[in-house]
Amino acid sequence: MLLHIPDALSTESLQECQTVLEQADWIDGRATAGYQGAAVKNNTQLAESSPLAQHLGDIVLAALERNPLFISATLPARVYPPMFNRYGEGAYFGSHVDNAIRLLPGSGAKLRTDISATLFLSAPDVYDGGELLIEGASGVQSVKLPAGHLVVYPSTSLHRVEPIRRGARVACFFWIQSMVRDTAQRALLFDTDAAIQRLRQTGGDERAVAQLTNTYHNLLRMWADT
Ligand code: NI
Repeated sequence: MLLHIPDALSTESLQECQTVLEQADWIDGRATAGYQGAAVKNNTQLAESSPLAQHLGDIVLAALERNPLFISATLPARVYPPMFNRYGEGAYFGSHVDNAIRLLPGSGAKLRTDISATLFLSAPDVYDGGELLIEGASGVQSVKLPAGHLVVYPSTSLHRVEPIRRGARVACFFWIQSMVRDTAQRALLFDTDAAIQRLRQTGGDERAVAQLTNTYHNLLRMWADT
């Protein structure tokens, strides 16, 4: 399930990220790529351990913790500390797979990458190219979102970033280990939650809302690992 989450960052947080990242020191993006990814990766990113990356990452995580759509869609167990990349003119990231398991910096604990996330930080009119192309069962989807908008998609998909023809594309990217590892089960829960929210907002029958909410939690209880 590919999902577009609009306005994942507030205007103030987005502006802070954009301003700070204009002055940032960027390193070769291959520092964190897997063997397959490194061969096709040509971009730059913030060093994972840099205080700047950690500060901006905290801003992003704080925003996501308050985002009901993000929580409902991903049911996060663990979120990898957000990283930041920059694609200047000519930069690209060829078709690749995200490593299934990543070590969390510092603790050495493992994170299974169930869901990949890209938070667009550059307005789409400041660069040409740079579309995120995601391969799925129904073909290739092209994603290029307004600044501050987020896309989440199954990490099982091959994906790539098209070469930049003009300007620069700055984004934040990270992975989520979901409490529900199966994509289809997650999608069922997401759809059920959306129906419950809609019934609540439209004054649906109270007993039916309670029953559906009960079913949602029983499915979550059946499928979730925490
Ligand atoms: Ni990737």
